[in-house]
Amino acid sequence: INESETTEDGSTVNFTSYQREGLSGLDELRTWVAEVAELTQPDDVVWCDGSRGEFDRLTKQMVAEGKLIKLNPEWRPNSYLARSTPSDVARVEARTFIASEAEEDAGPTNNWAEPTEMRETLNSVFTGSMRGRTMYVVPFSMGPVGGPLSQLGVQVTDSAYAVVSMNIMTRMGDEVLNLIANGASWIKAYHSVGAPLQPGEQDVEWPCNDEKYIVQFPESREIWSYGSGYGGNALLGKKCFALRIASVMARDEGWLAEHMLLIRVTDPNGRAYHVAAAFPSACGKTNLAMLRPTIPGWKVETIGDDIAWLRPGDDGRLWAINPEAGFFGVAPGTGDSTNVTAVETLWGNTIFTNVALRDDGDVWWEGLTDTPPDHLIDWEGNDWTPDSGRPAAHPNSRFTVAAAQCPQMAPDWEADGGVPLDAILFGGRRATNVPLVVEASDWSHGVFMGATISSERTAAAEGTVGELRRDPFAMRPFCGYNMADHWSHWLSIGSKLRFDRAPRIYQVNWFRKGDDGRFLWPGFGENSRVLDWIAARLSGKVSAETTPIGRLPQLDDINLSGLDVTRDDLEELFSVNREGWLEEADLTEEFFQMFGAKVPAALRAELEALRYRLTKE
Ligand code: GTP
Ligand code: MN
Ligand code: MN
Repeated sequence: INESETTEDGSTVNFTSYQREGLSGLDELRTWVAEVAELTQPDDVVWCDGSRGEFDRLTKQMVAEGKLIKLNPEWRPNSYLARSTPSDVARVEARTFIASEAEEDAGPTNNWAEPTEMRETLNSVFTGSMRGRTMYVVPFSMGPVGGPLSQLGVQVTDSAYAVVSMNIMTRMGDEVLNLIANGASWIKAYHSVGAPLQPGEQDVEWPCNDEKYIVQFPESREIWSYGSGYGGNALLGKKCFALRIASVMARDEGWLAEHMLLIRVTDPNGRAYHVAAAFPSACGKTNLAMLRPTIPGWKVETIGDDIAWLRPGDDGRLWAINPEAGFFGVAPGTGDSTNVTAVETLWGNTIFTNVALRDDGDVWWEGLTDTPPDHLIDWEGNDWTPDSGRPAAHPNSRFTVAAAQCPQMAPDWEADGGVPLDAILFGGRRATNVPLVVEASDWSHGVFMGATISSERTAAAEGTVGELRRDPFAMRPFCGYNMADHWSHWLSIGSKLRFDRAPRIYQVNWFRKGDDGRFLWPGFGENSRVLDWIAARLSGKVSAETTPIGRLPQLDDINLSGLDVTRDDLEELFSVNREGWLEEADLTEEFFQMFGAKVPAALRAELEALRYRLTKE
C-alpha cells in the first residue's frame, strides 16, 4: 500500500512529515487507516487535503472514467453531472440501522441492530470491498474549523464522488488534519460502495451494491456505510454524523442536533429575527432558507438549509449554527418563480446528480423553466422529449454547491458561536386540517407540536409517495436514539432557557389544499407574509386569537397587499375543524403508544389538554 499525501500541485509527500513535527495526535488516525486498509484491501490510500487542485484532479479523473459528465463551461463553468444506478437514488431507511447496545435506545422509529452481530456482518461485507480501488482518507469538520460548537470526523471512502461532494458540503482537508494532529477528537466514518474490481475489470458509471447497510453505532460514535453512493447514504458528515451521531452527542452533552434550516429575517425597520425551521425531507427547507420576500422592505438571509445545531447559552437564549458548508438540495421544482436564489447559486462549481442533460451541455429539471427543451437526455441516459410521458430528471435529483455561492448568504453565517433564535417553526405537507400558521402557547406545547408532526411521504426516501406518516421534529429518519427520549431532551433544554428569551414555537403548513385539490396558499416568496406575522407577534405588535389548537392570527393582521387570495381561501387556510382535530388526537394517542412509558408526562398532559379544549371550550 502506497500511503502518501497528495499536495496542491499534485506532488506526493511522505506522510511522516507530520510526525517529524512532533504531533502525535495523528498516531491513532494512522493506525486506524492502516487497519481499515487491511480490512478493505484497496490498491492505494490517498490522504485528501481538500484543495482546489485535488478537486480538479478528481473530477478530471472521473470524467475520464465516465463517472461524471463535464457540463458546457459556457453555461455552467466547473460543473458536472453524475447519473446514478436507478436503484441508488435516495436514502434507504429500511437499510439504515442504529446499533445501540440496548434496543430500547434505538426506539421504535429506528431499525435496531444488535451491535456484535452487526459488526460481524459489516466486517464481512467490508472485507476486500475496496479491492481494485483507491481508498481516500477525508478529514472533515462539521461547523467552522476549530469553532466551539464544531465536531470533527474522518471518512474513509472508495468513492471519488463522495470525496468531491464532501469537499463542497464540509470543511475538509489539511486544516482538520492539523487539529487532529494537535489532539482534537474525531469520529470514525467508514464508507464503501461495495463494488471491488477484479484485476483488469472495467468499472461502471456508478458503482454500488444491491446489498446496503447504513449503520450508526451511537455508543462508540461510529458510522459504517456500505453499498450506496447516494448523498444521504454516502456523504457521512451529513445525515449520519451531523444528525444521527450528533443527536446522541447532543443528548449526552446538553444540546440539540436538528433537521432545520436557519435564516435571519429583517423587517423594514431593520430589526432582525433568527428563525429555525424543521420540515421533513422535500417539504420546503431549502426553499424557505433562500426565500425572497414578496413584501417590500423585508430581507431574508440564509444561514443554513438542512441541519442546525442548537445550544443553550449562558444568557438563557438558544444559539444555533449550521454545521454544513454547502447545500445538497432537491433540483425539481427549483426555478425562477419558486427559488430564484437557488437558481443563482447554481451558476457554476456545482455537481448535479440525476438531473437531465440538455443538447447544449447544460442541465434541466422539471420546474427549472415553464416549458421543457424539445430534446434531452434523461437521468437514466435515454433520449427524452416532452411527450415521453416520464420525468426527465429524477424527482429526488439533487445539486451540490458551496453555501458561500448563495447570493443572500448572511455575511456572518460562519460565526463561531452562531445566532440566537427568536422562533422555531415545525411543518409538513398536510392537505387538510393544519392551518397556515399557529403559535404554541409555551415551550411544552411547542414540543408537543414538534413531536406530533405528520406529513405526506415524498420522493426523498423510499416508500409510497403521498401516504401520511408521523415525522416528529422532521427527525424520524435521523434521530440516533429513542424518539421519546428526544422529546424529553427537548423539554429539558427548554428548562435551561430563560422563559422570556426562549424562542417561540410555531406550526406552519404551506400545503393545505381546497376541495378541488389546489393549494390554497401560493407559498414560496409569499411565505414572507407568514414571517411578517411571526415577527409582529415576537415584537408584541399584534394579538392573536386563542383556539383549541393554539394561537391563530387575526386575518386582518396578515399582510395581504398585492396578493391574489380570496377571502374564502383565506378562511379555509385558517379553519380549525374540531372533528378533524379530535381524530388527530386519537391518532396521536395511538402514535404515543408505540413509545410506552417513555412518553414524557408533559406531552401526555398536552394531549389531554388539547382534547379538553376541543370538546369543552
Ligand atoms: P431535504 O433537502 O430533502 O431535507 O428537503 P427540503 O425540506 O429542503 O425541501 P425543498 O425546499 O427542496 O422543497 C421540496 C419541494 O417542496 C419542492 O418540490 C418545492 O417546490 C416544494 N415547496 C417548497 N416550498 C413550497 C411552498 O411554499 N409551497 C409549495 N406548494 N411547495 C413548496
Ligand atoms: Mn434533509
Ligand atoms: Mn433541502
